[in-house]
Amino acid sequence: MRVDPAASPVPEDVVAALDYERHARQRLPADVWAYIAGAGADGLTRRWNREAFDSRRLSGRVLADMSGASTATTLLGAHLPFPILLAPVAHQKLAHPDGELATVIAASACAAWMTVSTLASATIEDIAEASQTTLWFQLYMQAERAATLGLVRRAEAAGYKALVVTVDASINGVRNDEQRAGFRMPPHVRPVNVEGFKAPVSRAGPGESPVFKGLLDSAPTWADIDWLRSETDLPILIKGVVSPKDAELAIAAGMNGIIVSNHGGRTLDTLPASLDALEAVAARVEGRVPLLLDGGVRRGTDVLKALAVGASAVMIGQPIMHALAVAGAVGVLHLLTILRAEFEAAMAMTGCATIDDIDRDVLWPS
Ligand code: FNR
Ligand code: LAC
Repeated sequence: MRVDPAASPVPEDVVAALDYERHARQRLPADVWAYIAGAGADGLTRRWNREAFDSRRLSGRVLADMSGASTATTLLGAHLPFPILLAPVAHQKLAHPDGELATVIAASACAAWMTVSTLASATIEDIAEASQTTLWFQLYMQAERAATLGLVRRAEAAGYKALVVTVDASINGVRNDEQRAGFRMPPHVRPVNVEGFKAPVSRAGPGESPVFKGLLDSAPTWADIDWLRSETDLPILIKGVVSPKDAELAIAAGMNGIIVSNHGGRTLDTLPASLDALEAVAARVEGRVPLLLDGGVRRGTDVLKALAVGASAVMIGQPIMHALAVAGAVGVLHLLTILRAEFEAAMAMTGCATIDDIDRDVLWPS
Protein backbone atom coordinates (compact mmCIF):
# COMPACT_ATOMS: atom_id res chain seq x y z
CA MET A 1 0.00 0.00 0.00
CA ARG A 2 1.31 3.47 -0.87
CA VAL A 3 0.78 6.09 1.78
CA ASP A 4 -0.33 9.43 0.45
CA PRO A 5 1.94 11.99 2.16
CA ALA A 6 -0.73 14.63 1.75
CA ALA A 7 -3.04 12.54 3.95
CA SER A 8 -0.57 12.34 6.83
CA PRO A 9 -1.08 14.81 9.67
CA VAL A 10 2.68 14.87 10.25
CA PRO A 11 4.46 17.78 8.52
CA GLU A 12 7.19 16.55 6.21
CA ASP A 13 9.98 18.31 8.07
CA VAL A 14 9.24 16.51 11.35
CA VAL A 15 12.05 14.03 11.78
CA ALA A 16 13.01 14.45 15.45
CA ALA A 17 11.36 15.15 18.80
CA LEU A 18 12.46 18.79 18.69
CA ASP A 19 10.63 19.26 15.38
CA TYR A 20 7.38 18.40 17.13
CA GLU A 21 8.24 21.02 19.76
CA ARG A 22 8.79 23.70 17.11
CA HIS A 23 5.55 22.93 15.29
CA ALA A 24 3.54 22.66 18.52
CA ARG A 25 4.73 26.05 19.61
CA GLN A 26 3.45 27.58 16.37
CA ARG A 27 0.08 25.88 16.67
CA LEU A 28 -0.88 26.13 20.33
CA PRO A 29 -2.35 29.27 21.93
CA ALA A 30 0.42 31.23 23.68
CA ASP A 31 -0.99 30.65 27.18
CA VAL A 32 -1.38 26.89 26.66
CA TRP A 33 2.17 26.81 25.36
CA ALA A 34 3.31 28.62 28.50
CA TYR A 35 1.66 25.97 30.68
CA ILE A 36 3.08 23.02 28.75
CA ALA A 37 6.58 24.48 28.52
CA GLY A 38 6.02 25.70 32.09
CA ALA A 39 9.42 25.76 33.72
CA GLY A 40 9.73 27.04 37.27
CA ALA A 41 10.95 30.59 37.82
CA ASP A 42 13.90 31.31 35.50
CA GLY A 43 13.88 27.95 33.73
CA LEU A 44 17.41 27.07 34.82
CA THR A 45 16.70 23.46 35.77
CA ARG A 46 14.86 22.89 32.52
CA ARG A 47 17.88 24.21 30.62
CA TRP A 48 20.33 22.18 32.73
CA ASN A 49 18.38 18.99 32.03
CA ARG A 50 19.31 19.41 28.37
CA GLU A 51 22.81 20.70 29.00
CA ALA A 52 23.62 17.65 31.14
CA PHE A 53 22.79 15.35 28.24
CA ASP A 54 24.49 17.56 25.66
CA SER A 55 27.73 17.83 27.62
CA ARG A 56 28.29 14.07 27.97
CA ARG A 57 30.09 12.57 25.02
CA LEU A 58 29.83 9.01 23.82
CA SER A 59 32.62 6.54 23.30
CA GLY A 60 31.89 5.15 19.85
CA ARG A 61 32.83 1.53 19.22
CA VAL A 62 33.20 -0.18 15.87
CA LEU A 63 33.01 -3.69 14.47
CA ALA A 64 31.08 -5.12 17.42
CA ASP A 65 29.04 -8.27 16.78
CA MET A 66 25.44 -7.05 16.89
CA SER A 67 23.77 -10.34 16.03
CA GLY A 68 20.66 -10.85 18.13
CA ALA A 69 20.68 -7.20 19.20
CA SER A 70 17.64 -6.04 21.14
CA THR A 71 16.31 -3.13 23.18
CA ALA A 72 14.21 -5.48 25.32
CA THR A 73 14.67 -5.63 29.06
CA THR A 74 12.67 -6.42 32.18
CA LEU A 75 11.21 -3.91 34.60
CA LEU A 76 9.32 -4.83 37.77
CA GLY A 77 9.48 -8.43 36.58
CA ALA A 78 7.72 -7.75 33.27
CA HIS A 79 8.96 -7.73 29.69
CA LEU A 80 9.67 -4.19 28.45
CA PRO A 81 10.27 -3.99 24.68
CA PHE A 82 12.28 -0.75 24.87
CA PRO A 83 13.17 1.44 27.83
CA ILE A 84 11.28 4.63 26.92
CA LEU A 85 8.08 5.16 28.91
CA LEU A 86 5.44 7.86 28.78
CA ALA A 87 5.67 10.07 31.87
CA PRO A 88 2.50 11.17 33.63
CA VAL A 89 1.33 14.33 31.90
CA ALA A 90 -1.84 16.01 33.11
CA HIS A 91 -4.59 17.65 31.08
CA GLN A 92 -3.74 16.12 27.68
CA LYS A 93 -6.92 17.49 26.11
CA LEU A 94 -5.13 20.85 26.18
CA ALA A 95 -3.01 19.56 23.30
CA HIS A 96 -5.58 17.51 21.36
CA PRO A 97 -9.34 16.89 21.66
CA ASP A 98 -8.74 13.14 22.15
CA GLY A 99 -6.10 13.77 24.84
CA GLU A 100 -5.07 10.69 26.81
CA LEU A 101 -7.17 8.42 24.60
CA ALA A 102 -5.03 9.33 21.59
CA THR A 103 -1.87 8.85 23.63
CA VAL A 104 -2.86 5.40 24.87
CA ILE A 105 -3.66 4.24 21.35
CA ALA A 106 -0.22 5.38 20.20
CA ALA A 107 1.49 3.74 23.18
CA SER A 108 -0.43 0.52 22.55
CA ALA A 109 0.54 0.48 18.87
CA CYS A 110 4.24 0.31 19.76
CA ALA A 111 3.98 -1.46 23.15
CA ALA A 112 5.32 1.53 25.07
CA TRP A 113 4.29 1.66 28.73
CA MET A 114 2.21 4.66 29.73
CA THR A 115 1.75 6.39 33.06
CA VAL A 116 -1.64 8.02 33.51
CA SER A 117 -1.77 11.21 35.59
CA THR A 118 -4.16 11.72 38.50
CA LEU A 119 -5.03 14.93 36.64
CA ALA A 120 -5.80 13.20 33.34
CA SER A 121 -8.61 14.70 31.29
CA ALA A 122 -10.09 11.23 30.62
CA THR A 123 -11.15 8.70 33.23
CA ILE A 124 -8.90 5.99 34.63
CA GLU A 125 -11.38 3.43 33.29
CA ASP A 126 -11.78 4.87 29.77
CA ILE A 127 -8.02 4.99 29.27
CA ALA A 128 -7.68 1.39 30.47
CA GLU A 129 -10.51 0.34 28.16
CA ALA A 130 -8.69 1.82 25.15
CA SER A 131 -5.32 0.37 26.18
CA GLN A 132 -3.46 -2.65 24.92
CA THR A 133 -0.28 -1.86 26.77
CA THR A 134 1.02 -1.75 30.31
CA LEU A 135 -0.41 1.16 32.26
CA TRP A 136 0.85 2.66 35.48
CA PHE A 137 -1.20 5.10 37.54
CA GLN A 138 0.42 8.28 38.82
CA LEU A 139 -0.97 9.19 42.19
CA TYR A 140 -1.17 12.64 43.67
CA MET A 141 -2.08 12.07 47.31
CA GLN A 142 -5.32 13.87 48.05
CA ALA A 143 -6.29 15.98 51.04
CA GLU A 144 -8.42 13.11 52.34
CA ARG A 145 -7.14 9.54 52.59
CA ALA A 146 -10.50 8.14 51.50
CA ALA A 147 -10.18 10.05 48.23
CA THR A 148 -6.61 8.81 47.71
CA LEU A 149 -7.70 5.25 48.41
CA GLY A 150 -10.59 5.62 45.98
CA LEU A 151 -8.14 6.44 43.19
CA VAL A 152 -5.90 3.51 44.13
CA ARG A 153 -8.81 1.07 44.13
CA ARG A 154 -10.01 2.33 40.75
CA ALA A 155 -6.53 1.90 39.27
CA GLU A 156 -6.29 -1.61 40.72
CA ALA A 157 -9.71 -2.55 39.38
CA ALA A 158 -8.91 -1.19 35.92
CA GLY A 159 -5.75 -3.32 35.68
CA TYR A 160 -3.01 -0.72 36.16
CA LYS A 161 0.24 -2.51 36.95
CA ALA A 162 1.97 -0.05 39.29
CA LEU A 163 1.49 3.18 41.19
CA VAL A 164 3.78 6.15 40.64
CA VAL A 165 3.46 8.42 43.63
CA THR A 166 4.65 11.90 42.79
CA VAL A 167 6.09 13.71 45.77
CA ASP A 168 7.78 16.81 44.38
CA ALA A 169 4.74 18.92 43.53
CA SER A 170 2.70 19.21 46.71
CA ILE A 171 2.54 22.94 46.23
CA ASN A 172 2.71 24.86 42.99
CA GLY A 173 6.08 25.87 41.69
CA VAL A 174 6.80 29.48 40.81
CA ARG A 175 5.47 29.36 37.26
CA ASN A 176 6.25 32.85 36.05
CA ASP A 177 5.87 32.11 32.32
CA GLU A 178 2.40 30.75 32.97
CA GLN A 179 1.53 33.77 35.10
CA ARG A 180 2.79 36.25 32.53
CA ALA A 181 0.79 34.52 29.80
CA GLY A 182 -2.33 34.57 32.01
CA PHE A 183 -2.95 30.85 31.59
CA ARG A 184 -6.38 29.60 32.71
CA MET A 185 -7.47 26.00 32.20
CA PRO A 186 -10.14 26.03 29.49
CA PRO A 187 -13.48 24.62 30.66
CA HIS A 188 -13.40 21.60 28.33
CA VAL A 189 -10.23 20.30 29.98
CA ARG A 190 -11.33 18.83 33.31
CA PRO A 191 -9.41 16.69 35.78
CA VAL A 192 -12.29 14.22 35.70
CA ASN A 193 -10.84 11.72 38.15
CA VAL A 194 -10.59 14.15 41.05
CA GLU A 195 -13.60 16.40 40.50
CA GLY A 196 -15.36 17.22 43.74
CA PHE A 197 -12.36 16.27 45.87
CA LYS A 198 -11.36 18.59 48.68
CA ALA A 199 -8.50 20.89 47.64
CA PRO A 200 -6.10 22.55 50.06
CA VAL A 201 -7.01 26.18 50.74
CA SER A 202 -5.14 28.97 52.39
CA ARG A 203 -6.11 29.78 55.98
CA ALA A 204 -3.59 32.59 56.19
CA GLY A 205 -4.56 35.71 58.05
CA PRO A 206 -3.01 39.09 57.32
CA GLY A 207 0.77 38.79 57.28
CA GLU A 208 0.69 34.99 57.48
CA SER A 209 2.07 32.55 54.92
CA PRO A 210 -0.50 30.84 52.69
CA VAL A 211 2.02 28.07 52.05
CA PHE A 212 2.61 27.28 55.70
CA LYS A 213 -0.97 28.06 56.77
CA GLY A 214 -3.15 25.83 54.68
CA LEU A 215 -1.57 24.93 51.38
CA LEU A 216 0.85 22.43 52.92
CA ASP A 217 -1.74 20.92 55.27
CA SER A 218 -2.39 17.93 53.06
CA ALA A 219 1.09 17.56 51.60
CA PRO A 220 2.14 13.94 52.06
CA THR A 221 4.99 12.88 54.34
CA TRP A 222 6.88 9.60 54.70
CA ALA A 223 4.13 8.47 57.11
CA ASP A 224 1.64 8.70 54.24
CA ILE A 225 3.96 6.64 52.04
CA ASP A 226 4.05 3.97 54.77
CA TRP A 227 0.25 4.07 54.88
CA LEU A 228 0.00 3.74 51.10
CA ARG A 229 2.45 0.82 51.15
CA SER A 230 0.22 -0.96 53.67
CA GLU A 231 -2.91 -0.41 51.56
CA THR A 232 -1.93 -1.93 48.22
CA ASP A 233 -0.04 -4.88 46.78
CA LEU A 234 0.74 -3.00 43.56
CA PRO A 235 4.39 -2.09 43.06
CA ILE A 236 4.95 1.55 44.01
CA LEU A 237 7.52 3.85 42.41
CA ILE A 238 8.28 7.18 44.00
CA LYS A 239 8.64 10.05 41.53
CA GLY A 240 10.43 13.30 42.13
CA VAL A 241 13.52 12.22 44.06
CA VAL A 242 16.84 14.00 43.45
CA SER A 243 18.52 13.52 46.85
CA PRO A 244 20.41 10.28 47.61
CA LYS A 245 19.14 10.62 51.20
CA ASP A 246 15.54 10.53 49.99
CA ALA A 247 16.36 7.56 47.76
CA GLU A 248 17.55 5.74 50.88
CA LEU A 249 14.33 6.59 52.71
CA ALA A 250 12.28 5.43 49.71
CA ILE A 251 13.97 2.03 49.78
CA ALA A 252 13.41 1.79 53.52
CA ALA A 253 9.72 2.58 52.91
CA GLY A 254 9.44 -0.43 50.61
CA MET A 255 9.28 1.43 47.32
CA ASN A 256 9.79 -0.84 44.30
CA GLY A 257 11.47 1.80 42.18
CA ILE A 258 12.58 5.42 42.15
CA ILE A 259 11.96 7.93 39.39
CA VAL A 260 14.77 10.45 39.56
CA SER A 261 13.05 13.59 38.39
CA ASN A 262 12.93 17.33 38.84
CA HIS A 263 9.48 17.36 37.21
CA GLY A 264 11.02 18.61 33.99
CA GLY A 265 12.13 21.77 35.81
CA ARG A 266 8.51 22.67 36.57
CA THR A 267 8.67 22.74 40.37
CA LEU A 268 11.71 24.09 42.21
CA ASP A 269 14.02 25.97 39.88
CA THR A 270 17.76 25.35 40.30
CA LEU A 271 17.34 21.71 41.29
CA PRO A 272 20.12 19.78 39.55
CA ALA A 273 19.78 18.34 36.09
CA SER A 274 18.07 14.96 36.18
CA LEU A 275 21.15 13.21 34.75
CA ASP A 276 23.37 14.72 37.46
CA ALA A 277 20.87 13.73 40.16
CA LEU A 278 20.80 10.21 38.71
CA GLU A 279 24.59 9.96 39.07
CA ALA A 280 24.31 10.75 42.77
CA VAL A 281 21.27 8.56 43.42
CA ALA A 282 22.66 5.58 41.49
CA ALA A 283 25.89 5.71 43.50
CA ARG A 284 23.87 5.47 46.71
CA VAL A 285 21.27 2.92 45.61
CA GLU A 286 23.78 0.46 44.06
CA GLY A 287 21.14 -1.47 42.17
CA ARG A 288 18.84 -2.26 45.11
CA VAL A 289 15.78 -0.95 43.23
CA PRO A 290 15.32 0.07 39.61
CA LEU A 291 15.90 3.73 38.85
CA LEU A 292 14.11 5.65 36.14
CA LEU A 293 14.95 9.14 34.94
CA ASP A 294 12.91 11.88 33.33
CA GLY A 295 13.61 15.48 32.40
CA GLY A 296 15.01 16.63 29.09
CA VAL A 297 15.06 13.32 27.21
CA ARG A 298 14.73 14.29 23.54
CA ARG A 299 17.14 11.97 21.69
CA GLY A 300 17.98 8.28 21.54
CA THR A 301 21.49 9.19 22.69
CA ASP A 302 19.94 10.73 25.85
CA VAL A 303 18.33 7.36 26.60
CA LEU A 304 21.68 5.62 26.18
CA LYS A 305 23.41 8.12 28.47
CA ALA A 306 20.76 7.72 31.19
CA LEU A 307 21.09 3.95 31.07
CA ALA A 308 24.90 4.26 31.15
CA VAL A 309 24.64 6.31 34.34
CA GLY A 310 22.35 3.79 36.01
CA ALA A 311 18.74 4.12 34.85
CA SER A 312 16.72 1.06 33.89
CA ALA A 313 14.49 3.19 31.68
CA VAL A 314 13.58 6.80 30.95
CA MET A 315 10.34 8.71 30.65
CA ILE A 316 9.31 11.52 28.33
CA GLY A 317 6.89 14.28 29.30
CA GLN A 318 6.60 17.44 27.24
CA PRO A 319 7.31 15.71 23.91
CA ILE A 320 4.03 13.81 24.30
CA MET A 321 2.12 17.09 24.35
CA HIS A 322 4.08 18.42 21.38
CA ALA A 323 3.37 15.36 19.25
CA LEU A 324 -0.29 15.28 20.33
CA ALA A 325 -0.74 18.93 19.41
CA VAL A 326 0.74 18.43 15.95
CA ALA A 327 -0.70 15.09 14.90
CA GLY A 328 -2.68 13.38 17.69
CA ALA A 329 -2.18 9.63 18.08
CA VAL A 330 -0.22 9.43 14.82
CA GLY A 331 2.18 12.04 16.15
CA VAL A 332 2.77 10.28 19.46
CA LEU A 333 3.35 6.95 17.71
CA HIS A 334 5.75 8.64 15.28
CA LEU A 335 7.60 10.34 18.14
CA LEU A 336 8.04 7.05 20.02
CA THR A 337 9.17 5.33 16.81
CA ILE A 338 11.76 8.05 16.19
CA LEU A 339 13.15 7.88 19.74
CA ARG A 340 13.32 4.10 19.66
CA ALA A 341 15.10 4.09 16.29
CA GLU A 342 17.58 6.73 17.49
CA PHE A 343 18.24 4.66 20.61
CA GLU A 344 18.85 1.54 18.51
CA ALA A 345 21.32 3.47 16.33
CA ALA A 346 23.09 4.75 19.44
CA MET A 347 23.37 1.20 20.82
CA ALA A 348 24.72 -0.06 17.52
CA MET A 349 27.34 2.67 17.23
CA THR A 350 28.54 2.18 20.80
CA GLY A 351 28.75 -1.58 20.37
CA CYS A 352 25.94 -2.45 22.76
CA ALA A 353 23.90 -5.39 21.49
CA THR A 354 21.74 -5.62 24.60
CA ILE A 355 20.55 -3.34 27.38
CA ASP A 356 22.86 -5.19 29.79
CA ASP A 357 25.84 -4.19 27.64
CA ILE A 358 25.17 -0.50 28.35
CA ASP A 359 27.44 0.70 31.12
CA ARG A 360 29.68 3.64 31.92
CA ASP A 361 32.14 2.54 29.23
CA VAL A 362 29.82 4.01 26.58
CA LEU A 363 30.57 7.47 28.02
CA TRP A 364 33.76 9.24 26.96
CA PRO A 365 35.78 9.89 30.12
CA SER A 366 35.08 13.48 31.20
C1 FNR B 1 3.90 17.09 33.76
N1 FNR B 1 4.46 16.29 34.76
C2 FNR B 1 3.63 15.64 35.64
N2 FNR B 1 4.15 14.79 36.58
C3 FNR B 1 3.34 14.11 37.42
O1 FNR B 1 3.83 13.33 38.23
N3 FNR B 1 1.99 14.30 37.35
C4 FNR B 1 1.41 15.13 36.47
O2 FNR B 1 0.19 15.26 36.44
C5 FNR B 1 2.24 15.86 35.60
N4 FNR B 1 1.72 16.75 34.71
C6 FNR B 1 2.51 17.34 33.76
C7 FNR B 1 1.95 18.15 32.80
C8 FNR B 1 2.74 18.69 31.80
C9 FNR B 1 2.11 19.55 30.74
C10 FNR B 1 4.12 18.41 31.76
C11 FNR B 1 4.99 18.95 30.66
C12 FNR B 1 4.69 17.63 32.74
C13 FNR B 1 5.91 16.05 34.79
C14 FNR B 1 6.29 14.84 33.94
O3 FNR B 1 5.79 13.64 34.46
C15 FNR B 1 7.81 14.68 33.83
O4 FNR B 1 8.39 14.62 35.11
C16 FNR B 1 8.50 15.79 33.03
O5 FNR B 1 7.66 16.27 32.00
C17 FNR B 1 9.79 15.24 32.42
O6 FNR B 1 10.48 16.22 31.73
P1 FNR B 1 10.35 16.49 30.15
O7 FNR B 1 10.38 15.15 29.44
O8 FNR B 1 9.07 17.21 29.96
O9 FNR B 1 11.54 17.33 29.88
C1 LAC C 1 2.33 19.96 36.25
C2 LAC C 1 1.51 19.24 37.29
C3 LAC C 1 0.15 18.89 36.85
O1 LAC C 1 3.52 19.67 36.18
O2 LAC C 1 2.17 18.10 37.75
O3 LAC C 1 1.79 20.82 35.53
